[in-house]
Formats: sequence, structure tokens, C-alpha cells
Amino acid sequence: MGLCSLLCKFTRRAKYVILLVLSLSLLAWIAMFLGETGKPLLVLSATAQTLIKEPSLREKLASSTSTPDHVNTPLPIVECPQKSPLLRGALNLSFESSLKLTDVESENKGVTDGEYKPPDCTARQSVAILIPHRKRERHLLYLLHHLHPFLQRQQLHYGIYVIQQAGDATFNRAKLLNVGYLEALKDYSWECFIFHDVDLVPENDHNLYVCDKQPKHLVVGRNATGYKLRYKGYFGGVTAMTKAQFLKVNGFSNTYWGWGGEDDDLRVRVELQKMKIVRPPAHVARYTMVFHKRDSGNEINKDRMRLLGRTSLVWRKDGLNSCSYKTVSVERFPLYVNITVDIGKPQR
Ligand code: BGC
Repeated sequence: MGLCSLLCKFTRRAKYVILLVLSLSLLAWIAMFLGETGKPLLVLSATAQTLIKEPSLREKLASSTSTPDHVNTPLPIVECPQKSPLLRGALNLSFESSLKLTDVESENKGVTDGEYKPPDCTARQSVAILIPHRKRERHLLYLLHHLHPFLQRQQLHYGIYVIQQAGDATFNRAKLLNVGYLEALKDYSWECFIFHDVDLVPENDHNLYVCDKQPKHLVVGRNATGYKLRYKGYFGGVTAMTKAQFLKVNGFSNTYWGWGGEDDDLRVRVELQKMKIVRPPAHVARYTMVFHKRDSGNEINKDRMRLLGRTSLVWRKDGLNSCSYKTVSVERFPLYVNITVDIGKPQR
């Protein structure tokens, strides 16, 4: 009994131990099973989350690649059409005495430092408008008022430069225009230049302020003269020449002080280079001249006929290559660049 009861006792205890081990193993296995199945559940839920998130990631990626114009690579902008769809033809011009520069500024928010580029296409030409000026603020205001929207409708990249003659010496329109050409080229490589009187306002936006293969005269007619060309060789008021055409003729003469003759001199230079002046149709090349009395300091140049007689002899050394001046200031106003310049006085 002694050995048997001992053995039976041991076997019973062993059974308990085995049962305990088995139950613990079962628990451990269940725990393990739960652990194992728990992981895939987590993975699944993570995958689900990833699947849900994925489109937004793609969206993010897509937004950073499909809208490069807002990020860093600008969209290739197409060239502006040959004929701007914004043109209106004959215009109703207004010359309100109440007009202020700030009104014109707020009407032309797209213009910065006198410069404008069409927002949705690449302009066909980059054009500098050069306006010689002295004490004609009202005329300048009316011209800016009409010219900015006019040029914008033509979808041009343009810059307006006003060249002010400092001091009281006799006015010299031609030399101021030479200065304007030289100074504007320091800002940008303009390919076309419009030499523009301050008192002439274009009446029809089909009169395009662009350069042609030949020098272009834009004023066929104006209100004050019954819209008739003043004379066959008239080349005054508003003219357009490419950078190269103007360089070829050595620009304007610097020697015409006072009113008249400098535009005829430029025509002679153009003809000497075997270039031909072209004009837009008469019904388009129409201008309103804002009334004014002759300015003091711009008296008729009585010497102009004599000067004209020697153009063919002197044009090579009188022009852009001999234009000496001192720049007094360059001010970048919202609607134009104002260049004040000391161009000296007539040599007597
Ligand atoms: C002058 C020009 C002027 C034209 C029209 C001519 O006699 O020489 O400078 O533009 O008249 O007024």
C-alpha cells in the first residue's frame, strides 16, 4: 500500500500538473492566436487607411504637377493672335477737365512702372513709347488716359517713357527722343520705338503701335487739319521705327532747337538708307490734337531749312552717336518712367 499509495498520489498530482500545463498552453496558444490574428487585423485596418488616404496623396501629387503655373514651372504661354480680339475700332475720346492722374492709375492696375504685358499670351512685339515733354501736364494726362487702354487692347508688351527737358533752354524734341531711345534700352531690349507727340491722341485702335519692315508714320490725319496728310513727306507727330531702323539712320539730329524741321530731317535720313515710309489706311490713322498755344521756349526754328540742306553730309556724325546729355533723374511712376535730362542749349 505504501508504494501504491505513493505512486497513485504522484500520478494524481502529475495529472493536475499536466492539466495545468495544458490549460496554460491552451491559454498561451489562444493568446498567441489572438495576437497573430490581431496583427493582420491591424495591417488590414492600416491598409484600409492607406487605401482611403491614397487618393488624397495622389491628389496632392497631381495638384503639384498638373498646375505648374502656380508653382515653379510657368505654363508655356501662346503667342498673342495676329489680330487682337479686344480691338474696338473708332473710339469716343473724352477730355474731362475733372480727370486726375489717380483716376488713370486706378483704371490701369495691370501697369507697373509704365510697363504692361498681356496676362494670357505672349505679345508679338515689345514696344517703347517715347514722349518728349516739358510743362504739358494736362496733355500728358489725357494721352496716358487714352493710350494705356488702347495699347492693352492691342495686346502689346509696352513701356511708356516721358522724357522731360530740364531747364529753360529752347526745346529740342529730337534730342529728347534720342535720349529716350538710349535710356529705354538700358531697361529692356525694346524691339520697336514709337516717337509720340504729347498732344496727339489716337482715335482708332486699329492703328497698331507696332513696327513694320519699313519705318512707319502713324498720323495720316488729325482733326485740326481736316484729317488730311499735311504734305507727302510729312513724318511728324507719331512714328514707329524698329531698334535697328533707328540705329541705321543714327537716330535724330541733335541740332534742331525750337519748333520744326527735325521730323523732316529724320525722313531724309530714312530715304538716304533707301528705306520707304509706310502708313496705315487714312480712316484708321486718325488723331485728335489737344488744343494748345505755342509754348514759350519752343519758338519756330528759323534755321531749320538750312539744317535740312546739310543732313546728307552730317547724319553720320550727328545723331545717336553724338548725343551728349546729363540724366538729372529717372523716376518710376505707376503709369510711366519719367526721365528728366539736361540736354544743354543751342550752340550759337
Ligand atoms: C515742319 C515740320 C512739321 C510740319 C507740320 C513742317 O514745316 O518742318 O517739323 O512737322 O511742318 O507741321
